[in-house]
Amino acid sequence: MHQLALNHISCVYDTSLVSLDDISFTVDKGESICVLGANGSGKSTLLQIIASCVKPSSGEISIDKGKAGIVFQEPDNQFFMPTVWEDVAFGILKKGMQPEEARTLAIKALTDVEAAGLADRPLYKLSGGEKQRVAIASILIMEPEILLLDEPTAALDPQARKNIINLLKNLNCTKIIASHDLDMALDIASRILFLHKGKIAADCPAPGLLEDEGFLQSIGLELPLGCRRYILYGIS
Ligand SMILES: Nc1ncnc2c1ncn2[C@@H]1O[C@H](COP(=O)(O)OP(=O)(O)OP(=O)(O)O)[C@@H](O)[C@H]1O
Ligand SMILES: [Mg+2]
Repeated sequence: MHQLALNHISCVYDTSLVSLDDISFTVDKGESICVLGANGSGKSTLLQIIASCVKPSSGEISIDKGKAGIVFQEPDNQFFMPTVWEDVAFGILKKGMQPEEARTLAIKALTDVEAAGLADRPLYKLSGGEKQRVAIASILIMEPEILLLDEPTAALDPQARKNIINLLKNLNCTKIIASHDLDMALDIASRILFLHKGKIAADCPAPGLLEDEGFLQSIGLELPLGCRRYILYGIS
């Protein structure tokens, strides 16, 4: 049995706009899938449907035991506690864990994303990249079977981006990552799902079509830097 199966999923937010159009695919345990596509192609909608945050207009979705945890594109959408550690610990506190143990686990999760120093800071004072790391920690602490990440590297500086990519590479859970960072996809994905105007344009093992400039341009994307086969010599 597949860990996740989507069967003819469509999503229409209002009568005129089809955000997802007849999407079907299955995911097996341990896969690392990047969902790539231009702005508005339906990436966030797809992740939110898998996380049960958005109800599809039609179609069926099944997850074989366990839960999917989502890190949103805008981390502010998932914060509501006064300090970082309390927010990271929110899920386990709600499950009944004692505050002392919950704090220890929160600090461990923050350490994993190199943000332990932020534990006692108020969330609203963090930078975008710091918020992104805290948001990832607050989901990792729940040990989801399927980790859904929406643009996890978008707000990060190059060093933080590299650290998050390494962290994600070392996680054993199933990952589905929506992104415009095609080089991250090249680095991290075992499979790529290309979305174009709400439909699956291609579903292939990585790197596959990530190296096909004509295909990428046809769906509004560009070759990742890691696939550009030319070297620029000093131009004066
Ligand atoms: N809550 C909503 N209500 C109405 N329309 C929406 C809503 N959320 C998304 N849409 C529309 O659905 C389409 C797909 O949006 P979605 O956010 O899934 O795209 P995306 O691929 O994640 O884009 P981006 O790369 O800009 O994050 C877009 O046309 C968008 O305007
Ligand atoms: Mg999006």
